[in-house]
Amino acid sequence: MKPVRIAIIGAGTMGRAVAQGMIDSGFPASSLVMTAKSEDTCASASSDLGVEVLRENPLAVRDADIAVVCVKPKDVAKVVSEISAPLKEEAPIVSIAAGITNSVLTEACQAQHAVIRAMPNTPCAIHKGITVLSPSEGVTSSQLELSLRIFDCLGRTYVLDEQHMDTVTGLSASGPAFIFVMIESLADGAVARGLPRQIAIEMAAQMVFGAASMVLATGRHPAALKDDVTTPAGCTIAGLLALEDGRIRSVISRAIEIASQRASELGEPKV
Ligand SMILES: NC(=O)c1ccc[n+]([C@@H]2O[C@H](COP(=O)([O-])OP(=O)(O)OC[C@H]3O[C@@H](n4cnc5c(N)ncnc54)[C@H](OP(=O)(O)O)[C@@H]3O)[C@@H](O)[C@H]2O)c1
Repeated sequence: MKPVRIAIIGAGTMGRAVAQGMIDSGFPASSLVMTAKSEDTCASASSDLGVEVLRENPLAVRDADIAVVCVKPKDVAKVVSEISAPLKEEAPIVSIAAGITNSVLTEACQAQHAVIRAMPNTPCAIHKGITVLSPSEGVTSSQLELSLRIFDCLGRTYVLDEQHMDTVTGLSASGPAFIFVMIESLADGAVARGLPRQIAIEMAAQMVFGAASMVLATGRHPAALKDDVTTPAGCTIAGLLALEDGRIRSVISRAIEIASQRASELGEPKV
């Protein structure tokens, strides 16, 4: 495959997750260049990842075939406008910032580049992530392919219409935090019954992993898999009724709904 040069703008949590996933999947560290704002982050990212990390965005993108923007939403427009001129004309700009639309990205680069809005999640750091890509009009198949090559290193990828991006943010990007709370709560229940904390956490996490893997591996509806575990007059139905008493379904569904709503607000101009 043709060697490519990738510029990752922003060497924070997500920028590093993207870089690490790519390196672990066989991209040479020398094919990456990253940037950060402070000297400290440049030094630590460079030593952790073995990648060149600069403070100058225009310099970093000069020879890049693609720029992946991993800064906070408030910094995206400025960064994109900075890299637009030095970046090769045919190189797309991918932004992972929550709430920042393709039209904001297009405006920030003065329509000089194809832009792709992407939404990864933190499990990308261990190759178990989800990234949804939403290309703007005019993105070529080779530009999308190159973007998918990067994010395929980090887990599953999906290409969806931009109208779904805020919902995807609420579900797959915020979702890991919701599952962490659930794992903690599951473990707490077992600790209350005397199981040592460390074993309880590990078992809860492995159980969530196993249940999720069954949904993906079998393709069966979660309700059917739940019914398989639920013996009449058994312990599982007793636990399930306790969950229903606590309105577990609407609580979790509303969390996704409200996180998605908040994601849509992040891209709105501040008054
Ligand atoms: N965290 C998540 O779960 C998650 C999931 C999906 C998407 N996202 C999106 O990912 C983006 C980054 O989030 P994060 O959690 O990785 O943030 P973060 O850890 O704060 O990282 C942001 C990085 O951007 C750098 N930076 C700031 N201004 C810059 C500039 N002008 N030029 C170059 N680099 C600059 C910062 O450098 P310094 O360290 O030197 O200040 C820092 O390394 C956000 O837009 C967020 O919406 C996050």
